[in-house]
Formats: sequence, C-alpha cells, structure tokens
Amino acid sequence: MVYYPLSILMLAGIAEVLIITTPDDQAQYKKLLGDGGKFGISIHYGLQFHPSGLAEAFLIGEKFIGDDPVCLILGDNVFWGPGLSKKLVNAALLTDGAKVFGYEVNDPERFGVVEIDTSGQAVSIDEKPSCPRSNLAVTGLYFYDNAVIEYAKNLKPSARGELEITSLNEIYLQKGKLKVEVLGRGYSWFDTGTVDSLLSATNFVQSIQAQQGYLIACLEEIAFHKKLLSLQQVIATCNNMPNSQYKRYLERTMQRYV
Ligand code: G1P
Repeated sequence: MVYYPLSILMLAGIAEVLIITTPDDQAQYKKLLGDGGKFGISIHYGLQFHPSGLAEAFLIGEKFIGDDPVCLILGDNVFWGPGLSKKLVNAALLTDGAKVFGYEVNDPERFGVVEIDTSGQAVSIDEKPSCPRSNLAVTGLYFYDNAVIEYAKNLKPSARGELEITSLNEIYLQKGKLKVEVLGRGYSWFDTGTVDSLLSATNFVQSIQAQQGYLIACLEEIAFHKKLLSLQQVIATCNNMPNSQYKRYLERTMQRYV
C-alpha cells in the first residue's frame, strides 16, 4: 500500500521523505523501503506514539522539514488520473499558503469536506460533518508553506482528542490562503480506510493494470523517468528482486530503454 502514496510524492518531484508510523510498524517499513536509495530518494523515519491526529506530523517532522515548504500524504490514499503528475509538480512549487485537492463523493460525511464558491475559492471546511455543506471531500494530500509548523504547535485537540488536519486547513482558509484544486471526472481517488473502500481500490487497480498492462505505482520505473535512477541502476535493482509480477513488469518495461 505504501508504494501508492510514495509514487505520488515521487511524481511531484519530492525526493526527501519522512515516513511516520507507530513504534510497532516501523521495522516493517524499514525492511521494505530502507533508506530509499533503491528508488533514488532519501527516506527517513519518525514515530507517532499515540493516534493524536494527522496534524501532529508537523511536530514530529519539524526538524526534518527545516525551513522548507512541505507536503503530507496519507499512507492509505490512492490517486490516479490523466495529467496528475503535472498537477503534482505544480503543487510542489507552492511556497506561500496551502493547497488541497477536492474530490466529489457520495459519502462526504466520512471525510474533511470543503465548500467552494463559483470562482473555486474555499468558503468553509469541516471535519466529518453530519450535515456536509458540499460533496467535495478533501483528499489526503496536502501542500503547505513552512508556517504550518507554527500553526500545528498552536492547535488544540478536537472533541475526539486529535490535532486535526482540517483545523490547519481552516487557519489557511481564514487567511484566504487555502487553494482547492478539484480532481474532476476522469480522476480516481480512494481513502482505503474501510473494508469497502479497500476493496474498491483493489478492484480499480486490478482492472487498470490488467487492461493496460501498466503498474500504477512501480517506484523504480518512476525513479527512472524522473532521472533519479539510471537505466543501469534500475536493471541492477531488478536483478536482485525475488521473482514476482512486479519484477517481471519492471524487466519488461526497462527492456524498452535498453
Ligand atoms: C483523514 C482526514 C480527512 C480527510 C481524509 C482523507 O480522515 O481527517 O479530513 O478527508 O483523511 O483520506 P481519516 O482517514 O483519518 O478518517
């Protein structure tokens, strides 16, 4: 699963990543991804000891972020659509304010919900509202300027005891600095946090991959296209992989460039 959000960061041109997990899960991620070198990126690790909310990422990651702008992506989000890479690269250029992506859904009460006016300006944002003011869910991909760290430090836990990402977005909204880009028809987005949504995402990925033959999140392939790894490096990594569908895909794909 983590390959999907990582692929989105890499497509955005982000090559320094902090993976925040529970203490129990960290070893598994380290085993799978290491220092990121095999994908031409640099991966660091951080711990969240209690489920105290998404906005805590900016406190845990304060040193890692330093003086830079930052992007947060949730580990269970899957995005797909034509022209997505370009939107991601553009979003990663942000140095002032915040940018989130909206996606029309039938069950907005499960998500952060943003309301926009006719010019696309955000007018309200609520976390899991019982009476949503729009059908536009806020997806789990957020771009912020560096001020997000200070805003996160001043947040108070919500009624459910979490530092809410939506509270951060609300601060930007009130300053007139929250940009919302709608991922319209033709885009697919899944928050795979329920059995049903995980199954939907699985069916979607399977269907695209079976019909088109492309893998949606082959990190070595993305690294090659992003010039993070050379052809030789990808081939060497591929040769060291145990036999799998993923390895055969990578071998086949890289053959085109030999
Ligand atoms: C979180 C956020 C919510 C957002 C969603 C996207 O919800 O709190 O605002 O819409 O991610 O995946 P969670 O998945 O933690 O319930």
